[in-house]
Parts: sequence; C-alpha cells; structure tokens
Amino acid sequence: MTTPVLELRGIDKSFGPVQVLHDVAFSAYPGEVTALVGDNGAGKSTLVKCIGGIYSIDSGEYYFEGNSVTVSSPREAAALGVEIVYQDLALCDNLDIVQNMFLGRERKSGLVLDEATMEEMAAKTLAGLSVRTVKSLRQHVSSLSGGQRQTVAIAKAVLWNSKVVILDEPTAALGVAQTAQVLELVRQLADKGLAVVLISHNLNDVFAVSDRIAALYLGRMAAQVKASEVTHSQVVELITSGRSGTLGLTNGSGS
Ligand SMILES: Nc1ncnc2c1ncn2[C@@H]1O[C@H](COP(=O)(O)OP(=O)(O)OP(=O)(O)O)[C@@H](O)[C@H]1O
Ligand SMILES: [Mg+2]
Repeated sequence: MTTPVLELRGIDKSFGPVQVLHDVAFSAYPGEVTALVGDNGAGKSTLVKCIGGIYSIDSGEYYFEGNSVTVSSPREAAALGVEIVYQDLALCDNLDIVQNMFLGRERKSGLVLDEATMEEMAAKTLAGLSVRTVKSLRQHVSSLSGGQRQTVAIAKAVLWNSKVVILDEPTAALGVAQTAQVLELVRQLADKGLAVVLISHNLNDVFAVSDRIAALYLGRMAAQVKASEVTHSQVVELITSGRSGTLGLTNGSGS
C-alpha cells in the first residue's frame, strides 16, 4: 500500500456553537484523484479550508508525507506543497494570466519584476499541461471563458511544485466541452504523480476521473473507498443517508 501524501485523522471543527466537522479522517495519495463528495453543507469546503490553513482545526491530526505537521496559515500549507483552487476566490479579473499565476510570489531581478522569466515559466507550465486554447498570456483574466479561467487557476497551482492540488468544484459553472477539458487536466495532474482532490457534485465526472471517493455526510466521513469498488447508486446513498449496505456510518455516529 502506498503512503498517503496527506492524511487527516479525527478532525473536529466548529464555528461558534455549531460543529461542522466531526472526527473526520481523510487521505490523499500520490498519482491518484480522490473525489470529495457530499451534499450542500456537508462540510467539503470547510474541510478543504482546514487543509489549506485558512481555518484552524479544533482537534485532530494532520500528517504530510508521514510526518505530523501543524498548518495554521495558507503560507504554511503552500510551503508543504498544498495548493487549493477555491470555489469562490480563484483569480483576479483585472490582472493578466502571468500576473495571476505569480500573484504574491512575483519573481524579481534586482528591484524590478522579472517579467520575461515569469512569462516563460507560465508558458512552460501551460504547455506542460497541454493547454493550447489561451491566445495570449498577457490577456486579462476577465476576457477568458470559464474553462480557461479554471485552466489558469490549475496551472497556477501546478507552477509551485505542489504535491497536493485540491480543486473545489472546478467544473460547476462549465459547459460539456469545457468540463471535459478540465477533467482531462485533472487526470494529467494525477498522472504526473500529484495527489489531486476533486470536489464535485457531478457523479459522472467523479466516476470519470477518480481513483477513490470520500463521502461526507453532515460533517462526518461516511466512507472513503476505491471508485472501482462502489456503484453510482451506492455513492448516492452515502451522500444522502451516510450509509449504503455495509458501508458508511453506524447510527449516525463515527464510522
Ligand atoms: N465561516 C462559517 N461560519 C459559520 N458556519 C459556517 C462557516 N462556513 C461554513 N459554515 C457551515 O458549515 C457547514 C458546511 O459548509 P461547507 O461550505 O463546508 O459545505 P460544502 O459541503 O462545501 O457545501 P457546498 O456543496 O454547498 O459547497 C454549513 O452548514 C455551513 O453553513
Ligand atoms: Mg463548498
């Protein structure tokens, strides 16, 4: 069995009096796509924000490459090699593609920005991901289509030698062709050896690219299983009731 790059155990997270995550365990493996599924409000984005250091966990353990770590800021998560493409705040409209990809981590040569190097690195990363639909790297992101924006956001995550890339609903606003492109990119990231976590409500997409599926139900991890070992309807049951046959939670408590 391969060791997970990222492993969480016993994660609890509350906002004031409301407990959103209960004793959650979650693992992501190199070279694999792990889908994180669950109904609206199940806690997917909250879990991802805990992984990314945006929220601090109340209790539980966080292991990275087998070592116990504490991650208390996005900077610390990025330093480990964890990159997250968020559901809401992915890119800045008023900046171009290169500026977005290097935002907050600009290259300098002396006191000035090293535009040539940044543009070259951005071009290389996009080419390495077989992205060909973007006309100019100096195009403002506001002029890109939804799929192209996702592509840039994903390329940005890859640029930083990340080991874990987490995508929170990257295809939610996309049409059929663009969704297929983004899913292809997701698969490529895993084939490069990264651990990819894909949050999606679309089970067809989930089954198309995932190796494993983790289902959250009301803030509890109902099951984390190999995609080849479950059916579409079993996953639907895990999402809607937290269990399916012998899989899932017992009496609504920990699994
Ligand atoms: N900052 C916050 N303060 C208080 N409650 C929050 C906060 N963020 C999330 N919650 C609550 O936590 C629960 C889980 O929310 P979360 O956004 O993690 O769900 P989700 O699984 O990502 O849902 P969706 O599929 O709709 O994106 C919800 O009940 C939500 O209202
Ligand atoms: Mg969410």
